[in-house]
Amino acid sequence: MKQQGQFGVYIHWPFCLAKCPYCDFNSHVREGIDHDLWRDAYLRSIDHYASLVPARQVESIYFGGGTPSLMVPETVEAIIDRIQQKWQVSNDIEITLEANPTSVEAEKFRAFREAGINRVSLGVQALNNSDLKFLGRQHNVKEALKAIDIARENFYRYSFDLIYARPKQTLKDWQEELERAVTYTNGHLSLYQLTIERGTQFYQDYAQKKFVVPGEELAADFYNLTQDVLEAHNLPAYEVSNHARAGDESRHNLIYWHYGDYVGIGPGAHGRLTMEDNKFATREHRSPEIWLERVAEQGSGVHPFEGVPPEDRFVEALMMGLRLRDGVSLLALEREAGQNWQDFIDEDHVNQAAKEGWLVHQDDCLRLTHEGLLRLNAMVPYLLRERRAQPAVVAA
Ligand SMILES: C[S@@+](CC[C@H](N)C(=O)[O-])C[C@H]1O[C@@H](n2cnc3c(N)ncnc32)[C@H](O)[C@@H]1O
Ligand code: SF4
Repeated sequence: MKQQGQFGVYIHWPFCLAKCPYCDFNSHVREGIDHDLWRDAYLRSIDHYASLVPARQVESIYFGGGTPSLMVPETVEAIIDRIQQKWQVSNDIEITLEANPTSVEAEKFRAFREAGINRVSLGVQALNNSDLKFLGRQHNVKEALKAIDIARENFYRYSFDLIYARPKQTLKDWQEELERAVTYTNGHLSLYQLTIERGTQFYQDYAQKKFVVPGEELAADFYNLTQDVLEAHNLPAYEVSNHARAGDESRHNLIYWHYGDYVGIGPGAHGRLTMEDNKFATREHRSPEIWLERVAEQGSGVHPFEGVPPEDRFVEALMMGLRLRDGVSLLALEREAGQNWQDFIDEDHVNQAAKEGWLVHQDDCLRLTHEGLLRLNAMVPYLLRERRAQPAVVAA
């Protein structure tokens, strides 16, 4: 098994101004955050991981959340500096910060650039005010567009997110919104189909029939329309929900999808680390207060590492790789697990799926077609040995 590969660092900032009703990320609303305490906890955690996996080159740093644009730029700068002190970093390292497009946060973009950020990802979510309100967002369309302008002035690379297949949204609405959105892009756009996550406000509202979301067929139409519009604008999907001009893909997310190694720091963050040919899954305490306490007491807020057995390595790498337009290398999967791919994947099912037009098996590569990506969640269990379910259409 091969140890070295791409390596990134993920920093999770767990706070938001308000909780959006659809969101199940580890995000919390808190008054009076002690920024000095938080900065020190991140720095100590970086030291901890650097002592465990010192000989790696960092290709990417990603500040995610929560709302990391609420961090003070001094904390962001201190984290980037410490990572550069502790690890070798790539010359063209990508350093992304997720930002919410309120005016207050956009005003900080310049300071974030000076702190070392070279890419931002903005949570625009919708380009009409009534849907922004429905989604519980703190910004309006005007503010979002202004934030995109400020991002363009400060960063050569930026992206933004939209959520589609919203209640009452028609295909025509979405097409118009998407065409408009494309005019504000610079090489990268993330488009997520609204999902109703357990434990969210929307989960309750949906159960109480306060709104309806598109059914399977309409959801598939939304997905197909999205692909058509973005392909026509040279922004094809390189991953289920992520579109980019060639060369503008998010390098950080590609590390996940290529099943590379990454350190995950901050409440609820997870990571994957290869050490002496063994892969470990890491998971930090979810609660911000407990995480902070553990770091103060023990130098790290991580739970005990869990070894990832070969079969799980194979399945995880397959799940990640099939999300990509370019698919997954069977050789890479075999290297991951130390066994033949046929030990895990049912070859008859590969052939059947290819016949149905869901996937292409060419040389060493398995890749899903558009039709296959629509059934993504069901494809992996279908391909694996032992499970026999036929994939139904599921929203990608
Ligand atoms: C880590 S989240 C949030 C980042 C940032 N705090 C924000 O809200 O803009 C990244 C993206 O996931 C998407 N997302 C989160 N929950 C979703 C859901 N239930 N359905 C669809 N997309 C979702 C949103 O587009 C969001 O921008
Ligand atoms: S969607 Fe973003 S801003 Fe809203 S609660 Fe989730 S992490 Fe926070």
